[in-house]
Amino acid sequence: MSKTVRVAVTGAGGQVSYAMLARLASGEVFGDDTKVILHLLEIPKKPDWTPPNPTARQPLDIAEGNAMELLDCGFPTLLDVVVTDDANKAFNGVNWALLVGAAPRGPGMERKDLLGLNGKIFVGQGKALAKNAASDVRILIVGNPCNTNCLVAYHNGKEIPADRWHAMTRLDHNRAVSALAVKAGVPNAAVTSVTIWGNHSNTQFPDFTNAKINGKPATEVITDRAWLETTYVPQCQNRGAAIIKARGLSSALSAANGAIDHVKSFVRGTPAGDWTSAAVVSKGEYGVPAGLVFGYPVTIDKSSNWKIIDGLSFDAFGKAAFQKTLTELLEEKDAVKDLLPG
Ligand code: NAD
Ligand code: LMR
Repeated sequence: MSKTVRVAVTGAGGQVSYAMLARLASGEVFGDDTKVILHLLEIPKKPDWTPPNPTARQPLDIAEGNAMELLDCGFPTLLDVVVTDDANKAFNGVNWALLVGAAPRGPGMERKDLLGLNGKIFVGQGKALAKNAASDVRILIVGNPCNTNCLVAYHNGKEIPADRWHAMTRLDHNRAVSALAVKAGVPNAAVTSVTIWGNHSNTQFPDFTNAKINGKPATEVITDRAWLETTYVPQCQNRGAAIIKARGLSSALSAANGAIDHVKSFVRGTPAGDWTSAAVVSKGEYGVPAGLVFGYPVTIDKSSNWKIIDGLSFDAFGKAAFQKTLTELLEEKDAVKDLLPG
């Protein structure tokens, strides 16, 4: 008998969602034997809205158009698409919630500059998830700054167990794998054991010190340590800004791909002998204060049970990088303290 999975996507009229929705509906993520019902959430229409240009549309109208396109794909796996501006309806009975809806940054901004604007979205959405979602719900926060938005949502939706709340560092993980593969002249699949520690921000630590290339320490394959420290790490940390500079818009295709990869890993498990990166609610692992949403290396089994890889060690460079991203996340937590119920 086939299963049915309900998946909420917020910001469904935005560019990341547009690159993601068909892949969620198609069977690629949940399998050909699972039917998908998509719940698309957008902000309510503004009655006094004036289009800034003749082709501009309100986000809810765009989400309706996206729903039409999804139906027009004729996916055997897609059972229904619900479009709404009501978070309670969007999260009703959902097994997965992908929280993309939030403003993106523009040129010259850091992601944490969005906290004031976006943080409060996740108070109401955390509460609405706790009230309406299925008992097995898993949540991925994509909207930036995603670690701290996840912290806000988790604190406001604490009826949902802590292990279900994730923020997305998978895009950074994929970037970090690809940059090592390009430098070493090997396929992406040859690069394993990469971790994005900490924040999805320019303080993240893309850990080359524990990474492997064709099973050997990456530092034995790429022996130019100066390149690793002063080119590779900043390239990974600032890749989002480089995309914004090039496109005039933040990443969408690769961001959607990161979200799809994240969900796939949590549905199907990680490959034997490797792990992935995800920001999860810390229980104190690696000395991170419990409750902070921190990027870790995780393995996932085929039943969606996950655990943090333990026992990795850092050299002096790694220790300093780890501390820097931890300090930033503590500062972000302090900045949203008014959004965290006591
Ligand atoms: P976008 O502006 O194209 O779309 C965002 C959409 O969210 C808009 O349609 C907007 O109306 C909607 N929205 C805003 N508030 C909402 C709410 N309360 N409920 C439902 N919908 C709401 O932006 P985008 O390029 O799709 O990016 C979306 C977010 O994802 C941004 O915050 C961006 O920075 C972030 N992002 C994160 C990563 C990551 O790796 N974690 C990668 C790329 C983008
Ligand atoms: C990214 O990493 O591409 C996204 O978080 C968008 C951004 O603001 O950089």
